[in-house]
Amino acid sequence: MLNLLHKAKLFHNLTKDEIIELLNSNGLELFSCADNVRKEYKGNSVHLRGLIEFSNVCNCHCFYCGIRCDNKKVERYRLSETQILNCVKFAQSSGYRTVVLQSGEDNFWSCEKLCNLIKKIKEYDVALTLSIGERTFEEYKEFKKFGADRYLIRIETTDENLYNRLHPGMSFQNRLRCLINLKELGYETGTGCLVGLPEQTIESLADDILFFRNLNADMVGIGPFIPHPQTPLAEYKNDNFDLALKVMSITRLLLPDINIPATTAMESLKPNGRIIALNSGANVVMPNLTEVNYRKKYELYPGKICINDSPSDCVKCIKNKIESIGRSVSLSKGYRTDKN
Ligand code: SAM
Ligand code: FES
Repeated sequence: MLNLLHKAKLFHNLTKDEIIELLNSNGLELFSCADNVRKEYKGNSVHLRGLIEFSNVCNCHCFYCGIRCDNKKVERYRLSETQILNCVKFAQSSGYRTVVLQSGEDNFWSCEKLCNLIKKIKEYDVALTLSIGERTFEEYKEFKKFGADRYLIRIETTDENLYNRLHPGMSFQNRLRCLINLKELGYETGTGCLVGLPEQTIESLADDILFFRNLNADMVGIGPFIPHPQTPLAEYKNDNFDLALKVMSITRLLLPDINIPATTAMESLKPNGRIIALNSGANVVMPNLTEVNYRKKYELYPGKICINDSPSDCVKCIKNKIESIGRSVSLSKGYRTDKN
């Protein structure tokens, strides 16, 4: 085990069998090794990305997702352009250097509407990440032209059969096409997977990690799968925290200089889950900037944290937590190549 970690720390390379061995370990040495690699390559600062959940309207049927279009109990909303720009203004004045626009797959937000919005957001001095799902090459190109810097789209699982079973009406090949297009267009490209999906194996998680490396992803977000009661996977209960943490730590070993968030889902499963992740290889946190009234309606999974907190509560809380472990909030926009 120590030999394996030594090799990974030196060469940032592991075979699939070696990754499987680490995934089957208790993780303790792995977590501290990933923490050392994070410190060496990314330093002690933590980048904050302010998340704006601007629409929960979605025309997809992803089996695990609480806002899938088949969930008729969700009260749907769309923030107006003014509401979104107010969030951005708040973010900038609170010291955020990046905002992330996230939504379901909502056709109301046409390419033209989004480009107008992007142009207005870029008048504030912030980096902009989009997380709005599958679009065409031409649309991605337009968003980039108008100023979008980064794009997040998780592959969710690299097991093509499992992917296709969990995403009726969608296709693994198209998801892959999106990621390849985004890389080609020069976006800082983020991907990631869910950990603990039904019928997902340790072998397929090892493939996910190798996929992140082959893609040369700039950001990787790992989310433990949390079953939502109003989805077809409601009964699929499992404790996926430790396994998700191991996937995240191994990703840090293989891609030492990328940005890795301590995901909200991690803290939703375990108190202080984001701090544990920050001490196991993560260097990014994505506090929620969405107003309280809307947060409740963007329930991807039950127990989502900060559901009753205001955006300013979230800034204060996360800054205190970061400082409590001897880390600091970064003042830079936090591109992959930034030193701090
Ligand atoms: N529609 C966009 C997309 O698909 O990329 C962005 C929004 S989508 C809700 C954001 C992420 O939420 C997904 O990539 C998925 O990994 C995560 N997610 C959805 N349901 C979840 C669940 N039950 N547990 C954990 N994460 C979940
Ligand atoms: Fe569309 Fe989850 S099914 S965002």
